[in-house]
Amino acid sequence: MNTAHLTRGPLAYVDRGPGVPMLLLHGFPLDHTMWSAQIDALSQHARVIAPDIRGFGQSPLGYVDSQRGITMEEHADELAELLDNLGITEPIVLVGFSMGGYIAWQFVRKHRERLRALVQCDTRAIADTDEARAGRIKMADNVADWGSERVAEMMGPKLFSARALETQPELMAEVRRVVKATPPAAIAAAQRGMAARPDVTSMLPSIDVPTLILVGGVDAISSPEEMRSIADAIPNAQFVEILAAGHMTTMEKPQEVNATISDFLKRLP
Ligand code: MLT
Repeated sequence: MNTAHLTRGPLAYVDRGPGVPMLLLHGFPLDHTMWSAQIDALSQHARVIAPDIRGFGQSPLGYVDSQRGITMEEHADELAELLDNLGITEPIVLVGFSMGGYIAWQFVRKHRERLRALVQCDTRAIADTDEARAGRIKMADNVADWGSERVAEMMGPKLFSARALETQPELMAEVRRVVKATPPAAIAAAQRGMAARPDVTSMLPSIDVPTLILVGGVDAISSPEEMRSIADAIPNAQFVEILAAGHMTTMEKPQEVNATISDFLKRLP
């Protein structure tokens, strides 16, 4: 991995391939390795930049206000700084997954001029319910005592389809490995930031870049119905459901996801 020295500290990222820059934003509480299959395939015809978002993987958390964590907007601004640091001025294809998608909405809101296209995978536009927010704060308050591995066990059943949990146990083992290595403070900071994220539904009709909305057909976190309504609200967005995949579509059905994104890239104006 490479390291960029940014205002908040070092940020680790993969940078591979020629062509249009594509920025891949991973989910919670993961790192860039959830995109391994996409990095391999998409870097054949794009410049794929896959950072470890602040606090995750090899990017240290550094100082954060423990009461509010890191907001999605702060992550978006830091990723714009990463592009500056790499000297990328050409419009990019932004690809967000789940928490990475929450960050991507803020990137669209604040850095629209940097975008050529948007791909949102298995994410949500609405804010949390009070109950979901309370669950996040509970985790943020307790994860130091629980340990990160317990978070992997709590989330596991929701991340993959029942079929993948049974027939591809190596996927859950990989997620467990990544989550276990994630510092509790990073988990807490991200949960507080996600709990505070705004509802962006009213922004969707103003998104004017080519957009692909992609979701696993049995995603238990961001449902196909909810993602279809996001696609319906964005002018001319393309909607693709990856049949039988759970939330972690990129890991469960890499070939379908890669083919869908490659096809979208080829048809960009
Ligand atoms: C993710 O996959 O990034 C998380 O499930 C998002 C969330 O907790 O809302």
